Amino acid sequence: QLGLADLAHRHGRYFGSAVDGPALTDSPYLKILGDQFDMVTPANGMKWYATEPQQGVFDWKDGDAIVQLARANHQRVRGHTLVWHSQLPDWLTSREWTASELRAILKKHTFAEVGHYRGKVYSWDVVNEAFNEDGTYRDTIWYQTLGPGYIADALRWAHQADPHAKLYLNDYNLEAIGPKSDAYYRLAKDLKAQGVPLDGVGFQGHLALQYGYPATLEDNLRRFTELGLDTALTEVDVRMQLPATDEKLAEQATWYRDLTEACLAVRHCVGVTVWDYTDKYSWVPGVFPGEGAPLPWDDQLKPAYYALREAL
Ligand code: XIL
Repeated sequence: QLGLADLAHRHGRYFGSAVDGPALTDSPYLKILGDQFDMVTPANGMKWYATEPQQGVFDWKDGDAIVQLARANHQRVRGHTLVWHSQLPDWLTSREWTASELRAILKKHTFAEVGHYRGKVYSWDVVNEAFNEDGTYRDTIWYQTLGPGYIADALRWAHQADPHAKLYLNDYNLEAIGPKSDAYYRLAKDLKAQGVPLDGVGFQGHLALQYGYPATLEDNLRRFTELGLDTALTEVDVRMQLPATDEKLAEQATWYRDLTEACLAVRHCVGVTVWDYTDKYSWVPGVFPGEGAPLPWDDQLKPAYYALREAL
């Protein structure tokens, strides 16, 4: 039987999953990962804390393991993520830096990481989660110290380090049209006008049944496309308040179907990635107390899995 990736491929799209260290020794897990997906994103292995644990000392083993696995499975890789406020190493956050020091740190890290994976990564989430819900810049170490120009700088450096990688901005709660996605729309338009190398915008898609489905997703994807950008759903999961009931799982399935159809309806929405494919390895229960069951698999195939097949 065709896997999700085969079905997506018929539309010129990919279907991906995040994958994290603990799953790499789980052979039944790896079998499904290889059979069903043609894109993988390391959930943690390429983050700054993992790749530059001490200043100037780089560690590629976690990322390399996933790149190798992807190569064995003929899958592509989304690199995640270069510039973020979270999961930074202590050496970076435990003291103050001048603007010129921090700019040099960011430049060195970007060249080192993108350079290491040059030719092996389809796209990079260059900047992750740069905006607040109201569309103002998130007050991160990067913004505080360097101002908003850090975004264009990081994109330019990443492009120099791997001219073929597609470069993305990526964020959550971007699915619906609203202040946050408007801020990305304006920024993307601005960056394009200035000739900054930006190829796409990633909509994470961490959805929750209790907040309602983002009905403007398709229109929102389309307006970014019209700027000449790719879009992608990069970290999809649809969580719910536990316990999961048949009713909630059915509702979840329609969300998976609808978000996949939204991507397929928009040219240059290049693919969908789920933030791991099985509830067994989801980040949700650890971060949102009382919530869970967000993915298309648990120990079996869930209604969401069949809904994805229907949409594709
Ligand atoms: C999550 C990972 O899945 C967890 O294992 C980790 O503890 C925290 O980060 N948005 C992102 C991802 O861009 O990097 C996050 O991944 C989930 C939210």
